[in-house]
Amino acid sequence: MRAFSRFILETYLSISDLNEYLDSKRGSGASIGFVPTMGALHDGHMSLLKESKEKCGITVCSIFVNPTQFNDPKDYQLYPKNTEKDKKILEETGCDCLFLPNVEEIYPYDEFKQITFDPGSLGDVLEGAHRPGHFAGMASVVKRLLDIVRPDNAFFGQKDYQQFLIVHKMVEFYKLPIEIVKCPTVRENNGLAMSSRNQRLSAEEREKASLIYKTLTWAEHEINAGRLNFETIIKQAMFDLTEKGEFKVDYFDICGSNTLEHVDFRKDNEKLAVLTAVWVRDIRLIDNLLV
Ligand code: PAF
Repeated sequence: MRAFSRFILETYLSISDLNEYLDSKRGSGASIGFVPTMGALHDGHMSLLKESKEKCGITVCSIFVNPTQFNDPKDYQLYPKNTEKDKKILEETGCDCLFLPNVEEIYPYDEFKQITFDPGSLGDVLEGAHRPGHFAGMASVVKRLLDIVRPDNAFFGQKDYQQFLIVHKMVEFYKLPIEIVKCPTVRENNGLAMSSRNQRLSAEEREKASLIYKTLTWAEHEINAGRLNFETIIKQAMFDLTEKGEFKVDYFDICGSNTLEHVDFRKDNEKLAVLTAVWVRDIRLIDNLLV
């Protein structure tokens, strides 16, 4: 039996109703925490919501499957949707408010569907190189959502590290008075990073996909041990993922954690990011570790 939730989830479809609610909360001195999502909520989202609840007076979650960040129409069509289940999860987590706009509410006129933020070179590498236009669409919708919700803090998972960096830089660029909080990746017991896309994996595929995390932790270990050069680490990791895992690998790279530019060696203890994207059947999974 489901535990009884004492939280009432306020749900708003329109910007004006949401603003009326948030203005009244701001008026009584509450800080606003915001967790933007595309739904299909899982434990990773729940950890963002919990972090927001700890830090802020009111927690707002948005569910909007943003068409402009899908470069592959099939991926957009297949993106899992289950709003009723999501609402129950939000109630159980104690989220105060759900913003559930439709496409017309976010993009009222066709011309406003145009990209409004260009993430520059940070948006062209790694994910950006394989998903042209993805980060421009993502950053533009996040800007639109931040302008609507005007939170004090917004919470993003490290699993989408490149997304976090771009949002962080965009907020700096516009000088928005919002703190972008990076929350740790939540993993299944076998190490697989939680993702809405995992719902499309069979139990056997989920088990196999744990090799992604194992390979990342192996690379982390080797980087820290300093025995192998980065080229050898990348080659071995690619080999393991393709041969042992039988995955198609889009990339496995070692980069500066701030620039996401590929590095051949570590300079002065700089912080690095090891990032990968692989295909398990027709499902694309990403993961990373900061080293
Ligand atoms: O990470 C996501 O779910 C999406 O990219 C986001 C941040 C909600 C923007 O659509």
